[in-house]
Amino acid sequence: MRNIFAAAACVLILSLFIGLNGASGQKEGAAPTFADVSAIFSKYNCTLCHGSVKASYGLALHKYESLMKGSKNGPVIVPKDPAKSMLVRQIKGEKQPRMPINGPPWVTENEVQVIEKWIAAGAAKE
Ligand code: HEC
Repeated sequence: MRNIFAAAACVLILSLFIGLNGASGQKEGAAPTFADVSAIFSKYNCTLCHGSVKASYGLALHKYESLMKGSKNGPVIVPKDPAKSMLVRQIKGEKQPRMPINGPPWVTENEVQVIEKWIAAGAAKE
C-alpha cells in the first residue's frame, strides 16, 4: 500500500516538474532578442536618423555593434540595467528631447517593455 502512494507521489512530482519546464521553454516566456528590438527601431524610423547613411549624435542603431558602441557621449545601453540606459530614458521622455525626435507617435508601453526586458536579460546579440 505504501509503495503505491510513494509511486503516485513520484509521478505527481515528475509531471509537475515537466509541466513547469515545458511552460518556461515556450516562446512567449523567452527573453526578447536584438531582432525584436531592431524591429521596433525600424517601425519608428529611428534608423533614418541613426543608421548607416546618417548617424545623428554619432549613434547608429542599424547594427548590434554600433548600437552597443553608443553615441558621441558613450554607451546608450547598460546591459542588465534598463533604468540607466540612455536609450530607454530617451524613448520614455525621461530625458529630452524624447525620441523619435519627430514624434509622436511615441514608442508604445509594450514596445518599451520589450527593449527593457532585452536589456535586463543582458542585451545579447542573439
Ligand atoms: C528625425 C531624426 C531622428 C529620429 C527619427 C530619431 N532620432 Fe534619436 N536623435 C536625433 C538627434 C538629432 C539627436 C541628438 C539630440 C540632442 O541634440 O540631444 C538624437 C539623440 C538620440 C539619443 C541620445 C544619445 C545620447 O547619448 O544622448 C538616443 C538614445 C536616440 N536618439 C535614440 C533614438 C531612437 C531609439 C529613435 C527611434 C525610436 C530615434 N532616436 C529616432 C535624431 C533622430
